[in-house]
Amino acid sequence: MHPVEIIEKKRDGNEHSAAELREWINAYVADEVPDYQMAAWLMAVYFQGMTPRETAELTLAMAHSGEVLDLSGLGKTVDKHSSGGVGDKTTLVVAPILAAAGLVVAKMSGRGLAHTGGTIDKLESIPGWRAELSDEEFMRQAREVGLVVAGQSKNLAPADGKMYALRDVTGTVPSIPLIASSIMSKKLAAGARIITLDVKVGKGAFMKDLEHARELARLMVSIGRHAGRDVRAVLSQMDQPLGRAVGNAIEVREAIATLRGEGPTDLSELSLALAEEALAAAGLDTARAREVWESGAALAKLRAFIEAQGGDGRVVEDPELLELSAETSELRAPESGVVTELDAYRVGIATLRLGGGRERKEDAIDHGVGVYLLKKIGDSVRQGEVLARVHHRGGRGLEEARRLLAEAYRFGGEAAAPPLILDVVA
Ligand code: URA
Repeated sequence: MHPVEIIEKKRDGNEHSAAELREWINAYVADEVPDYQMAAWLMAVYFQGMTPRETAELTLAMAHSGEVLDLSGLGKTVDKHSSGGVGDKTTLVVAPILAAAGLVVAKMSGRGLAHTGGTIDKLESIPGWRAELSDEEFMRQAREVGLVVAGQSKNLAPADGKMYALRDVTGTVPSIPLIASSIMSKKLAAGARIITLDVKVGKGAFMKDLEHARELARLMVSIGRHAGRDVRAVLSQMDQPLGRAVGNAIEVREAIATLRGEGPTDLSELSLALAEEALAAAGLDTARAREVWESGAALAKLRAFIEAQGGDGRVVEDPELLELSAETSELRAPESGVVTELDAYRVGIATLRLGGGRERKEDAIDHGVGVYLLKKIGDSVRQGEVLARVHHRGGRGLEEARRLLAEAYRFGGEAAAPPLILDVVA
């Protein structure tokens, strides 16, 4: 293989063969292709695109660049993935529902990225809970509890780790075939037969409009099918944050409240929709989702899962055990009216500035800070009424967070809460 020929072929808009893509990806992972040549090829893909067949072959090559988990002995395995949002704690609600309904949820999750939170960071706000599991521990817990969530292993789709870091610094992240292959390579390597995707659309998401989100969803579903998996995608609104809590401990508290039937309607609605899609894909009665939720079986499953990974399961009964900073600051409405906008991106950045996310990869995060949104789109407010409560630590980042939150809110004469579920692609 001659790297220059591969780059030229894509530069000129031609289609790669499966063998070519395998060789190209393997050579890159083996450090036989330098970053500058991969960067040139990524830019060629950015401009020329890829056919769906070519994207599926690229994804398979990336998925097989490292370890591929074999979950075949575990029954009906399911993975749920979100393309990234603000206040998105649906995994913490959906995964226990699915496990309680009889599926095996064995998944690897990421940490927060930029303004978006990560499931592992949220779970680490539970005292004692640990994300690092050996392969044996992962498989045993999947078998015995039916629910396991581990940090992304470095051996899983290593081609994606290397390519993503390069895309990040070469302006080649926002390419639909590159995003689809990045997400799906990790999902295929993680081994689940059923993959339920939550593709976020809007200000706080990667995909800003429905048309592009739909294209991404269709591509990921077709990649999954090509690899023999059942993939379904729910497209959901991310103009404003999901639920009312944004942060880490505060989001786990809200997820627990939701499993108790006391959560915000948008989070409950989306969690139910995602759970029903996964159950339908498994050929099970979708009514099971609501049953195990209402009976408390899902909450009991969450506790069993937390304890299996070393965490204090009492948080399920006593959310106060999830430490939330008592230092608070309230943001008040500058005028009376109806909330017409609540920019999820700005709320995400505000949480980051408080210390709830990472500015750099190696930063430690503060699980006890965050934002609670008392008012969301469509709510009426009177001047001086509290819009949001900020939990901060010693004032760190508070001034900027307050400024960002003030900018996130817009008021007008009338507005209705935007539709939450925009489409389902199966
Ligand atoms: N998430 C990923 O894992 N990869 C992308 O390229 C974008 C979002």
